[in-house]
Amino acid sequence: MPSPAIHPSILNCDISRLGEELARISTADGVHVDVMDNHFVPNLSWGLPVVEAVLGATGLPVDAHLMIEDADRWAPAYAEAGCHTVTAHAEATTAPVRLAGELHRLGARAGIALRPATPLEAVADVLGELDMLLIMTVEPGFGGQSFIEAMLPKIQRARRLVSRGGLDLRIQVDGGVSAQTIERAAEAGADVFVAGSAVYRADDALAAITELRELATA
Ligand code: DX5
Ligand code: ZN
Repeated sequence: MPSPAIHPSILNCDISRLGEELARISTADGVHVDVMDNHFVPNLSWGLPVVEAVLGATGLPVDAHLMIEDADRWAPAYAEAGCHTVTAHAEATTAPVRLAGELHRLGARAGIALRPATPLEAVADVLGELDMLLIMTVEPGFGGQSFIEAMLPKIQRARRLVSRGGLDLRIQVDGGVSAQTIERAAEAGADVFVAGSAVYRADDALAAITELRELATA
């Protein structure tokens, strides 16, 4: 399994001080940027112009999590802009394999995300075409929610699929990941950890990142 990666989510950072907020997480493995359209989820965040500003303000790989409808139409622009990974929701793409091909042609890695109620089986047959599976551990839409423990068996099943199939696929968890929950997610088989409040609400974000990485490695 690859070494654990910590991707702070900037959803609830102080966006008026974007550059400083990104500088606070300089030792992270990536920056997770949540795009929401107020249709796929009951919240609106930002779109491509803000993601471009993030890309211009950090040297870290940018991981775009698209919580938007009609992902087939909108996702390629995030790859073109320079995001390292672009993740569409399984519930919002009708052609995940075609989309993954397009993202790859544009130089990005392709991810697919599952809401808590969406079974792993919905994407099991296409995982070989993808680079990352995002298992939501809260209902998507907001930061600061509690980790849904019932998602642990889904993470375990995903890890088994990856091992048995010899797949080159990262397993990301997003929602409620903290010093209290990250060990269980890592034991279950996740290897990329999104943490919003656990990093940005800490006085020392770098120390929080180090602690999360150590707990995920243990
Ligand atoms: C929620 C977003 C998350 C959110 C996580 O829908 O996808 O990335 O920022 O925030 P925390 O870590 O606070 O649960
Ligand atoms: Zn997210």
